[in-house]
Amino acid sequence: MARHLITSALPYINGVKHLGNLVGSMLPADVYARFLRQQGHDVVAICATDEHGTPAELAAAEAGLPVDEYCAEQWAIQKDLGERFGLSWDHFGRSSSSHNHELTKLLAAQLEEHGFIEERVTDQIYSPTDGRFLPDRYVIGTCPYCGYDRARGDQCENCTRLLDPTDLIEPRSAISGATDLEVRATKHLYLLQSRMADRLRAWIDEREDWPLLTRSIAYKWLDEGLEDRSITRDISWGVPVDRPGFEGKVFYVWFDAPIAYIAATKEWAEDVAGLGEEGWRRWWTDATGSDVTYTQFMAKDNVPFHAVMFPATLLGADSGWKLVDYIKSFNWLTFYGGKFSTSQQRGVFMDAALEILPSDQWRYHLIANAPESSDASFTWESLVQSVNKDLAGSYGNLVNRVLGFTAKNAGGVVPTVEGSSASRDAFVEQVGGLVATYTGHMEAKDLRKAMTVLRELWSAGNVFWNAQEPWKLKDDPAARDAVIATALHHLRLLAILGAPVLPDTSAVLLRAFGIDDLPAWPTDVAAEMEALGPGTPIEVPPVLFAKIDDDQIEIWKQRFGAGEE
Ligand code: 2FM
Ligand code: ZN
Repeated sequence: MARHLITSALPYINGVKHLGNLVGSMLPADVYARFLRQQGHDVVAICATDEHGTPAELAAAEAGLPVDEYCAEQWAIQKDLGERFGLSWDHFGRSSSSHNHELTKLLAAQLEEHGFIEERVTDQIYSPTDGRFLPDRYVIGTCPYCGYDRARGDQCENCTRLLDPTDLIEPRSAISGATDLEVRATKHLYLLQSRMADRLRAWIDEREDWPLLTRSIAYKWLDEGLEDRSITRDISWGVPVDRPGFEGKVFYVWFDAPIAYIAATKEWAEDVAGLGEEGWRRWWTDATGSDVTYTQFMAKDNVPFHAVMFPATLLGADSGWKLVDYIKSFNWLTFYGGKFSTSQQRGVFMDAALEILPSDQWRYHLIANAPESSDASFTWESLVQSVNKDLAGSYGNLVNRVLGFTAKNAGGVVPTVEGSSASRDAFVEQVGGLVATYTGHMEAKDLRKAMTVLRELWSAGNVFWNAQEPWKLKDDPAARDAVIATALHHLRLLAILGAPVLPDTSAVLLRAFGIDDLPAWPTDVAAEMEALGPGTPIEVPPVLFAKIDDDQIEIWKQRFGAGEE
């Protein structure tokens, strides 16, 4: 049994997340966490809302609510939606928690103690119209690198380059639209990342097993020259900087957000699981965490912060903090080739998604089409194909046929099998090979490849059933019973293997076999294929996946659009 810490990029608090957000971090993290738990590992899966900084302030202002009230409301909404999507995190915390305030201040103090923090007077954008400084997203303008005209002051959404508001061409206020912006001097704390560049490069050099996408983004950042970055801001919502001359300033959201991974683990251990301080330290310090494998899941725009900036924080703090072992990064999920957009409400959002289909169907479709090696396009047509062809046509159909036939011809119980047959042995061997490949892909976190093999496992069942034609074996009940028993065992195995991605479906199917607790991940397929005692009663569950009518595509296009700008 190994120990696995899993975190998914913390969703911004500013509203319900879209399917692109879900498939780029929270969902694959959940599939992997469920898989590892089934393998019997000790897993802690952590997520939280990312509540500070300009996105939260701007969204709260738009909603007409005080920012703390807005965040509390949105946290509850996101938690509920995550749970309804089957996200089985051990804890879903908040970056605004007292634990995160405490840890953010602790990390800053540790960095300062080791000489990695410096006070600097810098030029910031000030808006006389708004009567305040305009950090980060409070300024919008043209990206100096790619020319995108809606780039935000902190990062260009288009080319992912990190920006400073003063970099933007033709800047304007995101609050008032004012363009009469001034540059004024103000004091800020800087994280001296440049002094850590060599250490970070050496550390990345050793991460040879990381995905190409993660490594190439990390190197791009290092090659561009690691600049010292301001880690404080002139806004009021955030972790206050307790330091003379810094009244009214808070830590930068990208400084405190990753620390919230630690804080949420702390909150879970101390306040939820009753495990005390040791309960979280054992995951987060080198001394006690050397046997912990820490895996992070995120979309590619988050990689610079996790591959470089957060490690710089932890290394610079020099207090034995555990660094990430593997960063699984994702490209973009597009909406018919265009952008999913929260600000423009384009695409499908988690709440609306659950109004139209059960979560398992989304989970399967999104993971089977995850933007792993390149961007992937969400289309209604491909969603319907996943449901109708893969889930209903292959998996669901197999379940119906086998269980229906068992009810009619085997008295609704697992029949007794006598002797062996070459066709059964060949099938068991085939399934064993597929399970090994599937397990390998899951371990490697190659989830799309894993779904390809899961489909092969479904279709292998259909091929076996069709080839054996048990309905023609009326005169040879022993042979017929052997086919039924084999197919039933295969279904049980499919429920176990499908559980990381289709947890609700697996629970229903296992209940048909009278199994309430999810069995462990199979290690000996031949033994699994004999696990059900003869006479075990089998119930026929309701149809697992209803086919979607083709007309439905038009209805969804009317409601959600189809990617048009
Ligand atoms: O891009 C995002 O959605 C960020 N809120 C991710 C933060 S990840 C972590 F650092 F907290
Ligand atoms: Zn750009």
